[in-house]
Amino acid sequence: MTNLSVNIKSNEKSYPIFIEDEDKALLKEKILSFVEGRNFLVIISEKVEKLYGKTLKFPKENVFILKDGEKEKNFNNYKKITERALKMKLTRKDAFIAIGGGVVGDLTGFAASTYMRGIDFIQVPTTLLACVDSSVGGKTAIDTDYGKNLVGTFYQPKAVFINPNFLKTLDERQFKTGLGEVVKYSFIEKSCKCEEDLNLTNFLSEKAEMIVNRDERVLSKLIEICVKLKISVVEKDEKEGGLRRILNFGHTYGHAIEKITKYKKYTHGEAIVEGMKFAFNLAVKRNLIDKNYKFLAEDVIKKFNFVDIPEFDMEKMIELMQMDKKATFDKIVFILPTDYSTVEAFELDSNCLLYTSDAADD
Ligand code: GLY
Repeated sequence: MTNLSVNIKSNEKSYPIFIEDEDKALLKEKILSFVEGRNFLVIISEKVEKLYGKTLKFPKENVFILKDGEKEKNFNNYKKITERALKMKLTRKDAFIAIGGGVVGDLTGFAASTYMRGIDFIQVPTTLLACVDSSVGGKTAIDTDYGKNLVGTFYQPKAVFINPNFLKTLDERQFKTGLGEVVKYSFIEKSCKCEEDLNLTNFLSEKAEMIVNRDERVLSKLIEICVKLKISVVEKDEKEGGLRRILNFGHTYGHAIEKITKYKKYTHGEAIVEGMKFAFNLAVKRNLIDKNYKFLAEDVIKKFNFVDIPEFDMEKMIELMQMDKKATFDKIVFILPTDYSTVEAFELDSNCLLYTSDAADD
């Protein structure tokens, strides 16, 4: 078992992250001992409930089943969860438990942060993306008609229980979307300022086949490396005042791809992989890196066979990128590579992107 912890010094918040490939019944015991003596509401993904509900055996009256899909991260489900908790008479001393992917975690976290002005919540991520990214760091959200994650809070969980065994049954596309975020960490590793030298790029090169074949030990190690990098960033900048922005590498252009295709055609991971390729091209055009690094990065990406995404009309993409939460007036924030495994934030004038509109061709 790997025990990590997140320590946010500015407000003395700290919580454990357990990574263990254990029996689901044992996992349930550990979760229950964490909430001992308190009432709780489990919010679980429908798919996960179908696969593991009988093993986890939480009492029916304590379970809220959430349908799968990004469109479920909405106001209506937020209302249903909080009203269910009210009906159960949960108090501030009780807890919410999120079991599922990013949608379940983000929505539960948001509900937890507002229920009675804040109730404890526990993250039990069951997708690769949730294990390496969304379950750690306290970003909570719901989607609106105006865009994804536009309503949300920073609210840290009380504990994260990661069990890589859930990934065995994850469908291939969902697994790949998580790999998109994993690959991202390799390109930002040095900027994460982690005290330990984790060398994720080497790990990915050496173990690519075992990762694709979902070797449990290799996946556990991979998750551990990514979580350590994420902890290092979040501990230094909980609320994205500066450093945390690097976690958005590939996301500026990636979010625009998701928006232009109405969140239907490509998964988040697929879109951000294309966003990272765009960022590498842009960095070459702006003389931030040499072409050799870009080719090396493309080789790492190729190892995982992500889908190819075609180019879109650059003017429309700029318009969408300007609507991003991080954009200011006519400036668009881009995280760009400046050296091996190193990135920096740049505020770019949207006009200068037009002159690099062939960037994705390179
Ligand atoms: N998913 C990016 C972050 O947690 O900041």
